[in-house]
Amino acid sequence: MLVRDMGIHGTRPFLLFVLLLLLRACFSVNADDTFTKGQPPLSVIDNDSISSKNGIFELGFFERGTPKKFYLGIWVKSLVGQTQKNIVWVANRENHLSDPYNSKLEFSEDGNLVLLGASPKKPFWSTNLQNLPSNSTEAALLDDGNLVLRDRSNLSTIFWESFDYPTDTWLPGGKLGIDKTGKEPKQLISWKNSEDPSPGLFSCSLRIDPNGSIEYIFEWNRSQVYWSSGVWNGETFAFIPEMRLNYVFKLGFVSNEKEAYMSYNSSIMSICYLDSTGQFKAITWPPTSEPWVLWAQPKSLSDVYALCGPFGVYHDNTSQPCDCPKGFEPFSDTRTRQNDWSSGCLRRHPLQCENRNAKKDWFQKIPNVTSPINWKAYSAMSDARCKLACMNNCFCTAYTHNSSGCLIWEGALLNMQRPSDGGKVGSDIYLRLAADERQISTKGTKWKVWVIVAVLVAATGLILCLSVCFSIKRKLKHKGETAASSNDLMLFDFSTEIHAISDGTNSQDNDKKRGKKDVELPLFSYESVLAATDNFSAANKLGEGGFGPVYKGKLLKGKEIAVKMLSKRSGQGLEEFRNETTLIAKLQHRNLVKLLGCCIEGDEKILIYEYMHNKSLDFYLFDPAKKKMLDWGTRIHIIEGIAQGLLYLHQYSRLRIIHRDMKPSNILLDSEMKPKISDFGMARIVGDNEIQANTNRIVGTFGYMSPEYAMEGLYSIKSDVFSFGVLLLEIVSGKKNTGFYNHGSLNLLRYAWELWRDGQSLELMDSTIGYPSSTSTLVRYINIGLLCVQENPADRPTMLDVVLMISNEHGPLVTPMQPAFTVGRNLMQTNPTVNPAENCSINNVTFSIMEAR
Ligand SMILES: *[C@@H]1O[C@H](CO)[C@@H](O)[C@H](O)[C@H]1NC(C)=O
Ligand SMILES: *[C@@H]1O[C@H](CO)[C@@H](O)[C@H](O)[C@H]1NC(C)=O
Ligand SMILES: *[C@@H]1O[C@H](CO)[C@@H](O)[C@H](O)[C@H]1NC(C)=O
Ligand SMILES: *[C@@H]1O[C@H](CO)[C@@H](O)[C@H](O)[C@H]1NC(C)=O
Ligand SMILES: *[C@@H]1O[C@H](CO)[C@@H](O)[C@H](O)[C@H]1NC(C)=O
Ligand SMILES: *[C@@H]1O[C@H](CO)[C@@H](O)[C@H](O)[C@H]1NC(C)=O
Ligand SMILES: *[C@@H]1O[C@H](CO)[C@@H](O)[C@H](O)[C@H]1NC(C)=O
Ligand SMILES: *[C@@H]1O[C@H](CO)[C@@H](O)[C@H](O)[C@H]1NC(C)=O
Ligand SMILES: *[C@@H]1O[C@H](CO)[C@@H](O)[C@H](O)[C@H]1NC(C)=O
Repeated sequence: MLVRDMGIHGTRPFLLFVLLLLLRACFSVNADDTFTKGQPPLSVIDNDSISSKNGIFELGFFERGTPKKFYLGIWVKSLVGQTQKNIVWVANRENHLSDPYNSKLEFSEDGNLVLLGASPKKPFWSTNLQNLPSNSTEAALLDDGNLVLRDRSNLSTIFWESFDYPTDTWLPGGKLGIDKTGKEPKQLISWKNSEDPSPGLFSCSLRIDPNGSIEYIFEWNRSQVYWSSGVWNGETFAFIPEMRLNYVFKLGFVSNEKEAYMSYNSSIMSICYLDSTGQFKAITWPPTSEPWVLWAQPKSLSDVYALCGPFGVYHDNTSQPCDCPKGFEPFSDTRTRQNDWSSGCLRRHPLQCENRNAKKDWFQKIPNVTSPINWKAYSAMSDARCKLACMNNCFCTAYTHNSSGCLIWEGALLNMQRPSDGGKVGSDIYLRLAADERQISTKGTKWKVWVIVAVLVAATGLILCLSVCFSIKRKLKHKGETAASSNDLMLFDFSTEIHAISDGTNSQDNDKKRGKKDVELPLFSYESVLAATDNFSAANKLGEGGFGPVYKGKLLKGKEIAVKMLSKRSGQGLEEFRNETTLIAKLQHRNLVKLLGCCIEGDEKILIYEYMHNKSLDFYLFDPAKKKMLDWGTRIHIIEGIAQGLLYLHQYSRLRIIHRDMKPSNILLDSEMKPKISDFGMARIVGDNEIQANTNRIVGTFGYMSPEYAMEGLYSIKSDVFSFGVLLLEIVSGKKNTGFYNHGSLNLLRYAWELWRDGQSLELMDSTIGYPSSTSTLVRYINIGLLCVQENPADRPTMLDVVLMISNEHGPLVTPMQPAFTVGRNLMQTNPTVNPAENCSINNVTFSIMEAR
C-alpha cells in the first residue's frame, strides 16, 4: 500500500475522500516503494509519499524556511524531526513549488516523471528524457535511497536515477564523480543555509589528474579551491583518514567509458554531506541514540573560504564564528541564525568617494587579521603613499602596508580572519569607511561632558563655519572646475586612460563637461603630485625651466613623469591655463612631448609630462664633452624629428599652432635620442586661414626670434621656420647663435652666411663630430638652414617645403638670400617696447625672453 496521509487540509467532502481511497486501492497493485503511470499523482496537499521497502527512506514533499517553501525530496525517515540533517535529495532545489496547493508529481504522456503546478506547460522539475517506452515506465525508491525511473516490464532497465544527480548528500552506494558523456558532473553543492536547499556557494567534486591520481576538491563559488581531500592512495584519502577502506567505510573507484566515480558502503548507517558551512560531514544514527557527527572536514571552519562573506571577519568561536568590523552590520539576523553568513556584512554608511562635495573617507584599523586574497601589490613605498594610493582610488576598500610593500584591495573583502593561537599570521588592515562613520564611532559615553563641550564647540564652530563657508564659496566660485575630481595620478595608467578620456567614454568626465565636446585633460590632486615627487624633494628636481622648476616623479607602476611647476607669479588666469593645456593635450605626435595632465592647487599650476630620459638638446649641444654623443647621424635624425614635429603643428594637427619658442632647451630627447618638442607655454593657435597674427605681447627667446616678430610683433608659421633655421645651424655647428663673437662676426647667422657666400660652408661643421659620410648632405642642410632664416618671411620655405627638401636628397635647392642677422643685438638697443622687464610685469609667461642659453 502507498503510504498516504490525509494531511492537515482534510476539508474535502467525505464522499470524495472515500472515492479517492477506493480508486487508490484499485490501482495500487505495486509494492510500497513504486509509483506507476496509472496511479493518481502524489500531491502536496495530501502530503503523499512513497517509502523504500526497508522503511529507511521516504520520497515526498517537505517545507523549509519562512515563508514556507515546498520541495519534492527524499529523506531519512527515522531522522524526521531531528535537528540533524535528514533531507538527502531534493528534486527541485532551484525551483521551489510556488503553487503548492496545485502541485503534484505524476507521469507525463511520454513516460517522464514530472513535478507540475497548475500550469502543465512549465514543470517545476522533470526527468526530462526522450524516447521512453511511454506506457511502461515506473518510479521506485530503492533501499539505498536511490529514486529510479525504470522499465516496468524489465526492472533491470534503468532510464534515470537520482544517484546521478546528487544535491548535497553522498549516500552509501551513491556516485560522486564525473560524467564522460557531457552531462553534468556528479558533485555535491551545499544548501544556501539550513533552511534553504537552493545551491549554495560551496561545492565538492572529483578531480582526476592527468597522472591518474584522484582527489576531491572543495570550492567556493565554483572557483576558489579552499580544501582538498588529498590524493586517494587506494586505501584512504590523505586528509580524510577517517574514510579508510575496510574500516567503517568501503570505498571503490569506478571508471568506464561513460563515467568515473567513487562510491562507498558503510558498515553502520551513515550519510556524508556537504554542509552549508562548507564542511564535509559524516553523520550516523545508531538505532537507539541520537544521530551524531562522525567527522567533519576541513576540521576547522577557518579553512573554509569566505565563510563570513564580504567584509565578515572569522574568529575562533564555535557559537558565533563571524563578526562584522566597525562601521558594518550583519546582513540579516535570520540568516545568521541558520548558520548562513555568506551575505557577510553591510556598510552602515555608504562611501562618498565619488561625491566630491562630501567629506573625505577615512581608514579604520583592523588589527591582526589575515590578508584577504585578490590584492594588488605595489613595491615598497611609505605608509602614507600606500594610504594615498587607496584613498585616491574609489574602488579601493582597504590597504595594508609593511616593510616589503603595499597591498590594496578593491571591492568586497573576503576571508578576513582573526588568527587563533599558533594559526595563520595576521597583520593590520586599514578599512575604508565613510566620514559619517567617524562621527558615530567617536560618540563617547560621558555624554554630559560632551554636551557642554559640544555646545561650546557649536557656538564657536558656527561663527567659524559661517566665515569659512563664505570664503570657501568664494573660492569655489573662483576655482570653478578646478575643485573637480582628482583623477589619481599615482594609479593613473596613461597608456589606456588618456585614450578612454579622449574617446569620451569616461562618463564622469562627460557629466562634468555637460555637452562640451572637447577632450578634457586629466586633473590630478595636489596630494598625488606630492606623493609622486616625494613632496617636490630636491633629489627629484630636474632643473629650472623658463617658467619654474621641473621635477621628476614616479607612479606606482614605476612609470616616470616630469612635473613642471609654473611660476606662482604667473599672471595667467586659470581659465586660460586650462584652455591652453586642453588644447595641447590634443596634440599627439611622436615628435611632441605628451602632456599627460595637470594639477591646480591655489596659485600653483602644475603640468605633468611624459618623462624624457635624456634631458634637452642644449644639455648636449653646447657642452664640449657631451656634444660628442651627438654624432652626425644623430644630429640628422634630430633635425628631421624637429621638422616633422613642427610640420605637424603647422599643418596637420586639427589646429594651426605656432610654437613661438623653438630653441634647443625646448627640444627634449627620449631614451633613444629622438627629439620631442616641448614647452607650449607660448604657443598660439591661429585660424586655418589666418597666416599671420599680431600681438602686443612679444614673447620668445632672444636669438631665435624672427625680425618681423621681434620688432613688430607679427608672428606666423614663418616665425617658427626662422627659429627652426637657427636651430638647424646650431645643431650643425654646435655653436650658439647668441654669444657668438668668433671671427669678427656678430652672430652665428652672419658667420654661416659669410662662409656660404665664400663657398666655405664645411667650416661651419662642428669639428668634434668627425667628418660626415657625405659633405654634400652637410652643405644641403646648411643651405636649408639659411633659407629658413631669410629676412623676408615670404622668402622662407614652409615646414612642408623643409621636410621635402630634407627627404629628397637630390632635389634642387634655392640659393639663400642674406639672412636677417641684424636682429637680436640691435633689437635691444633700438626697440624699447620689448624690454623684457616690462614684459615680465605683464605676464610672467614671457620670462624666457631674457634667457640666454
Ligand atoms: C506530512 O506528514 C508528515 C508526517 O508524516 C508531517 O510531519 C509533515 O508536516 C506533513 N507535511 C505537510 C506538507 O503537510
Ligand atoms: C498506452 O496506453 C494507452 C491506454 O492505456 C493506449 O491508448 C496507448 O496506445 C498506449 N501507448 C503505447 C505507446 O503503447
Ligand atoms: C532487461 O534489460 C537488460 C538491460 O537493459 C537486458 O540485458 C536484459 O536482456 C533485459 N531482459 C529482458 C527479459 O528483456
Ligand atoms: C599526480 O598529481 C598530483 C597533483 O598534481 C600529485 O599530488 C601527485 O603526487 C601525482 N602523483 C604521481 C604518482 O605523480
Ligand atoms: C560567484 O561568481 C560569479 C561569477 O562566476 C559572480 O558573479 C558572483 O558574484 C560570485 N559570488 C560571490 C558571492 O562572490
Ligand atoms: C557495496 O555493497 C554492494 C552490495 O553488497 C556491492 O555491490 C558494492 O560493490 C559495494 N561497494 C563497494 C564500494 O564496496
Ligand atoms: C563566542 O561568542 C559568544 C557570543 O558572541 C560569546 O558570548 C562567547 O564569549 C564567545 N566565546 C569565545 C571563546 O570567544
Ligand atoms: C608583508 O606582507 C606580505 C603580504 O601579507 C607578507 O607576505 C610579508 O611576509 C610581509 N612582510 C613583512 C616583513 O612582514
Ligand atoms: C595576532 O593574534 C595571534 C593570536 O591571538 C597572536 O598569537 C599574535 O601574537 C598576534 N599578532 C600581533 C602582531 O598582535
